[in-house]
Amino acid sequence: MCGIVGYVGAKPAIEVVVDGLARLEYRGYDSAGVAVLTGGALKTVKRAGKLANLREALASEVTSAPSEAVAEGGTLGLGHTRWATHGQPNDRNAHPHTDCSAAIAVVHNGIIENFASLRAELEERGHELASDTDTEVVAHLLEEQITGSGGLTEAMRRVCRRLEGAFTLVAAHAAEPDVVVGARRNSPLVVGRGDGENFLASDVAAFIAHTRDAIELGQDQVVELRRDEVTVTGFDGKPVPVREYHVDWDVSAAEKGGYDYFMLKEIAEQPRAVADTLLGRVGVDGRLTLDEMRLSDDELRDVDKIIIVACGTAYHAGMIAKYAIEHWAQLPCEVELASEFRYRDSILTRSTLVIAISQSGETMDTLMALRHAREQRARVLGICNVNGSTIPRECDGVLYTHAGPEIAVASTKAFLTQLVAVYLVALYLAQVRGTKWGDEVFAMVQLLSSMPDKVDKVLETMEPVRVLARSLADERCVLFLGRHVGYPVAMEGALKLKELAYMHAEGFAAGELKHGPIALIEEGLPVVVVVPPRARRVLHDKIVSNIQEIRARGARTIVIAEEGDESVVPYADTLLRVPAVPTLLQPLVATVPLQVFACELATAKGHDVDQPRNLAKSVTVE
Ligand code: F6R
Repeated sequence: MCGIVGYVGAKPAIEVVVDGLARLEYRGYDSAGVAVLTGGALKTVKRAGKLANLREALASEVTSAPSEAVAEGGTLGLGHTRWATHGQPNDRNAHPHTDCSAAIAVVHNGIIENFASLRAELEERGHELASDTDTEVVAHLLEEQITGSGGLTEAMRRVCRRLEGAFTLVAAHAAEPDVVVGARRNSPLVVGRGDGENFLASDVAAFIAHTRDAIELGQDQVVELRRDEVTVTGFDGKPVPVREYHVDWDVSAAEKGGYDYFMLKEIAEQPRAVADTLLGRVGVDGRLTLDEMRLSDDELRDVDKIIIVACGTAYHAGMIAKYAIEHWAQLPCEVELASEFRYRDSILTRSTLVIAISQSGETMDTLMALRHAREQRARVLGICNVNGSTIPRECDGVLYTHAGPEIAVASTKAFLTQLVAVYLVALYLAQVRGTKWGDEVFAMVQLLSSMPDKVDKVLETMEPVRVLARSLADERCVLFLGRHVGYPVAMEGALKLKELAYMHAEGFAAGELKHGPIALIEEGLPVVVVVPPRARRVLHDKIVSNIQEIRARGARTIVIAEEGDESVVPYADTLLRVPAVPTLLQPLVATVPLQVFACELATAKGHDVDQPRNLAKSVTVE
């Protein structure tokens, strides 16, 4: 939520910052703004709405305020793209925020929980605040502190010690023309190291066009950025060790590459993402190697219960993991929405393994859930996509997915790679624990390697899905049904449709139908049914009965079934085929048509599928 960029170097800051914001717009698009230091003054321009509005304002010759003569020659700047928390998404509440004399500019991601009392204090001391945001208090607090020695950097440390909540801050001071200062607690901030230039951003995507060398910032750290120098300390001013790393993807991965939307590109990238996530983990002898996970085999043998915590799409991956872990690893497994987990009295011991699944590695609910688990001595394994993000740093072990940057707000390729990761964990647990499914585990490991081709095959047959989606653009509601792992797939299909097409969509366990939801069925209602492979005879036959039940009540049935399954033909108004694979692996192929369906239907309704309303990709507030 909210994207932040800071730059100091030799290039025109306005270009670097606005380009960086364009790559961070997935984090929020309620407003955007920049501040550039030029001629000894900070010039700011900010606009409500998407970045396009800011670009337009910057391009227009006539600006509406004196401060808006932005800054052609400036080579130091900062910028922000907002997902509103405090205050409406208008020009006034857009970042950067400034102090009374407009000598300090600040951008912020997160929530400053004690902002109301800080604001009252400031007002008592005569400060006039111009916005409704929590952020503005920081600019005024910096103004008070900057009078002491140490300049902006020391002032930032002092101010941070007074703040409660989650915050990433980036600030500049007109009197210090070669310094940008950043601070972080609980929200992401990375440093990009260039040659004679340095960057700060919420995500490496913002500076990947300039450098692939990055530094991870830890909790409660302040970074001072100059052209040739990066200095990191704690809030107490003491130097701290930092981890430098090289980003293993380049700028082309963060561009649309000829697709109309990032989402379309990311759907198409799924075979590669699945293959990359398997790479180096499956041995030629069919055994798995997950040494990088940082949890020893002895620790894994000691596990007697697994709890998975995650949100949204990642939660659906967790639901599927439960089936895989209970079956192959024969361990009890619970799945819980991260936002609920820490509010119940879950029983955790040193032998409980908590698995936190998160694409961004920054989701606040998931972060808080894993902290709660660690406080109770449970071991925590993170499954994450973003290297160096907060969640993997705070886990005992981590298994990275290799989806590459996922920029569209709705998760697609990250979901498929999360599935691969949870299969790997389940199979690896079975391998080290020596469960009775030895032969099946061996066969599954081999089969996983064929899944990229199977996903590719699904993608080649998506035209009927697109035609179907366009034909349903005027519907008000679509239901999704599944059993076993098809149930979370149904929920994922419904979530995609809700967030992209803004339609009422629900995913149900087909067995629950008769306990209530069947009352929703009426003439012509589209119902998507995910049919399990025929190999799971009981499951399969039950769902075929469910299809008949809803069809008898007038539903328009859209059936996803494996190739060769003729038993569903008489009951399907539309039949979509996926390759035949074992039941537990079916989500890898059955989810893809649902992604394409939602994307196409939303596009037919004229929606921007990369930036659905009210959403942001990285949810860094609870
Ligand atoms: C849906 C979607 C969200 C995320 C959720 C968790 O398409 O993208 O539901 O899955 O916000 O995000 P991460 O995985 O970053 O923790």
